[in-house]
Amino acid sequence: MSQNDPCILVIFGASGDLTSRKLIPAMYEMHAMGQLHPSTAILGVSRTAKSDDQWRDELEPWVRQQAKGFDPAKWTEFARRVHYFAGDAVKPDCYPALEARLGELAQQKGTRGNLLFFMSVAESLYEPIVEQIDAAGLVVEGKRWCSIDPNAKSWQRIIVEKPFGHDAVSAASLNRTLGRAFEEESIYRIDHYLGKELVQSLLVLRFANSIFEPVWNWQYIDHVQITAAETVSVGQRTAFYDQTGAIRDMIQSHLFQVMAFVAMEPPSLYTPENVRAEKIKIIDSIAIPTADQVADYCALGQFAADGAEGAYHELGGVSPTSTTETYAALKFHFDNWRWAGTPFYIRSGKKLAAKRTEVVVQFKPPAANLFRKVPGFGGEAPNRLVIEIAPKERFNLRFEVKVPGFGLRGANVNMQLDYADHFKAEPVEAYGPLIVDAMRGDQTLFKHRIEVEGAWNAVMPFLDERSAAARAGIHANYACGSWGPASADELLARDGRAWRNEA
Ligand code: BG6
Repeated sequence: MSQNDPCILVIFGASGDLTSRKLIPAMYEMHAMGQLHPSTAILGVSRTAKSDDQWRDELEPWVRQQAKGFDPAKWTEFARRVHYFAGDAVKPDCYPALEARLGELAQQKGTRGNLLFFMSVAESLYEPIVEQIDAAGLVVEGKRWCSIDPNAKSWQRIIVEKPFGHDAVSAASLNRTLGRAFEEESIYRIDHYLGKELVQSLLVLRFANSIFEPVWNWQYIDHVQITAAETVSVGQRTAFYDQTGAIRDMIQSHLFQVMAFVAMEPPSLYTPENVRAEKIKIIDSIAIPTADQVADYCALGQFAADGAEGAYHELGGVSPTSTTETYAALKFHFDNWRWAGTPFYIRSGKKLAAKRTEVVVQFKPPAANLFRKVPGFGGEAPNRLVIEIAPKERFNLRFEVKVPGFGLRGANVNMQLDYADHFKAEPVEAYGPLIVDAMRGDQTLFKHRIEVEGAWNAVMPFLDERSAAARAGIHANYACGSWGPASADELLARDGRAWRNEA
């Protein structure tokens, strides 16, 4: 592991939900695990006036509630790292005082001028804030490859939270604005799914073993299912969600990252450059559906009313005529040698039957069925690898064996590795290790500019006017607590397949 430099983590959007619920508890966990450089400090920036101590007092209950193993002594140590600055970061007049405060902190803590900005504000503020950071001259170093003495220089990096744009055009605009202020090597487009243990473990499973990779292709794999099912509703975020929907909120972002790790070619070495290059290539090889394929390649839904709340289109903050999807199932093909003819089905939705994030790799049946005359053999293709990402972290491999006793009878059995049982380690908040990676200058688990734009291009047909037919009749087309609309089952049934719906 490379060095974890001291720095000031400057969080724009200090008063926001993400900061208190995820970022600060994650940083506390990293502190408690000794993952932060002793000099590293945090400066929260928001408009409301408050002192460092007031902000610390506001954060403490969040850390108690959200972080693993709260320890009052560790909190006291950690709180000394936490500071607050009141200012409106989209306004130029905020910056002289902010720069002075950063200078003071750098001096006091010894952070060597290293700054890690975190954009935890509304997406519409990303570009104005980046423009102000640039105009204020806060970015003094970017080109790491031409530094003469890499140890003597300071660095300034930026972490950009999703949503990264709203479509292909806005993502390209944000990339250009970021690129005017920062080098690509200093831009960390974060996706918290890449901080999840089992997502990272996908690469290890595939590339540190010899038994999976030879069969990891169209010859042996019938299809792949990637599911992120949630039981929760859209909560207080109706206005945001109605502009967003499941494809933007979950598929283009999180589930494409999972799909890239399942589908990409092996990098020649585990380095940021090699891993990111392979992800760019695999996203680029997604076959973009034509206008007349769109309706056949997707199933979109909105949840119906239940005892707790109305149907999605009846909620406050949602347009009554809204066709925004709270459920989406999409089918993708890759135009490449490895995956020719093997579809990837990706689905995500709110208010479904269970909270479940998983990858199902369904293998084809054996080339010849030796047991075809024996009753009980030759049903569903037996071999299936299920990678459960949440709420449990487990690998399950299913295969056929003989049932003990007289006569020949087959049974599908499951071999399971449960992370919690085996490693006796509870997962930490996914943001923590990712932010520490950014402090170390490791971009492996962050998205490249080209990849993000490619991901938008691949989903645009499901979002723009080409998806109108798939959105007709979307209102209340699935019951809360179900596995989504009937059209999602039909999507797979048309291909002779079915979803794995196990609660
Ligand atoms: C967020 C989405 O990015 O991910 C939410 O905006 C969603 O709508 C959440 O609930 C799911 O994350 P996780 O880690 O609980 O699967």
